[in-house]
Amino acid sequence: MNNEQVRFERLVAGGDALGHLADGRVVFVPGALPGELVDVQITQAKKDFARGTVASIIEPSEHRVAPPCEHVARGCGGCSWQHLDVAQHMEAKVAIVREALRRNGKIETLEVVAGGFVPPTASRTTLRMAVTPDGRLGFRRGGSHDVIDTPTCLVAHPLLNEFIGDVRVTGATEATLRCGVATGEVGIWLHDEDGEDVHGATVTGLPSHVVVGRKEMLHEVVQGVSLQVSMASFFQASQVAAELLVSAVNDAAGDAALSGEYGPIIDAYGGVGLFTATLVDTDIPVVLVESNPSACSDARSNLHDHDVSIEQIAVEQWRVQDAGLVIADPARNGLGAMGVNAIVATEAKRIVLVSCDAVAGARDVRLLLDAGYACEGVTVLDLFPNTPHVEVVSSFSRSQTAK
Ligand SMILES: C[S@@+](CC[C@H](N)C(=O)[O-])C[C@H]1O[C@@H](n2cnc3c(N)ncnc32)[C@H](O)[C@@H]1O
Repeated sequence: MNNEQVRFERLVAGGDALGHLADGRVVFVPGALPGELVDVQITQAKKDFARGTVASIIEPSEHRVAPPCEHVARGCGGCSWQHLDVAQHMEAKVAIVREALRRNGKIETLEVVAGGFVPPTASRTTLRMAVTPDGRLGFRRGGSHDVIDTPTCLVAHPLLNEFIGDVRVTGATEATLRCGVATGEVGIWLHDEDGEDVHGATVTGLPSHVVVGRKEMLHEVVQGVSLQVSMASFFQASQVAAELLVSAVNDAAGDAALSGEYGPIIDAYGGVGLFTATLVDTDIPVVLVESNPSACSDARSNLHDHDVSIEQIAVEQWRVQDAGLVIADPARNGLGAMGVNAIVATEAKRIVLVSCDAVAGARDVRLLLDAGYACEGVTVLDLFPNTPHVEVVSSFSRSQTAK
């Protein structure tokens, strides 16, 4: 396909730069930056939009930097914003969230503020890595299924980095690596791309203290609380991220709601019980709704001294009960209409929504507004440094006219 010179306008959800072709169609290009004039090779041309790659940069942005990680030049697509000065990341993420609210949520008026951020290197305590054909660990090439081996990883915690390059895997296509900063515990779990165990998969090259398998349990300390986290359970990407997110949810919920003043608390998509364990006193009634059996098992252990009912079920199928506060922290696809319906049916006075996708989050904000909730604040956290991923914490209060 042909090449065309494009002046880029902004970064969009997913991390690509957006510009316009001479015929008016938008074009999305990874690796370009706002303000830059780029010679773009068009790789996909549709009626309304096109995609392309950077053939050469004619006028670079003042915010373009040499990627700090050596593996980017070899094609590693794990951190797709390493060409953007890290000092610009938060502003870019806030702009992406604002644009998603405007475009996908049809909301112009909400104030979006910047919250906390994770240091750009050496912080990740959970990494999902892919396996090369010769058994090494790495990440996929941007926009491709190919795996680039990465014997080290800029964002990984040192407890993981010390052995990534020595690992050899047979029989599995992916591995989850996790460590506990507070305890020094380290684990690895081999699986396929759907997160399913692979019978007969093996791993060599691990230090003797690294435990292997989906059922292995590590421990992490957040806000002074020790949490059991099995290898197959979801946990925030880093210990610092967990600390920042808990603080943001605390601020968004408010003391009255967290102290049970408005009624019971629903910890929806509650995982291993991070929010309840760190934010809610043990005598306040909580219902934790979580579909993953491993996470529920960890939550039972982590919350054994709490007044909690742990319901292992999808939120959309959960038998709704009245609540004073709902904290909802869904996976990337967000709440959707069914998740919103369940949460709204609790008639909670306050809702805190944690969204890890700007577009799905904007849709969910719209649905909550339409259901009669008022949005009181939107805070963007940067929990995934060097990537375009956002974490958004929004707070809502129920209005008199709520459905
Ligand atoms: C982003 S994680 C948040 C977990 C927890 N709040 C935390 O911060 O550690 C989302 C959680 O929702 C769970 N989950 C995914 N889909 C679900 C659903 N439809 N209903 C209930 N839980 C779900 C996942 O297993 C995961 O534990």
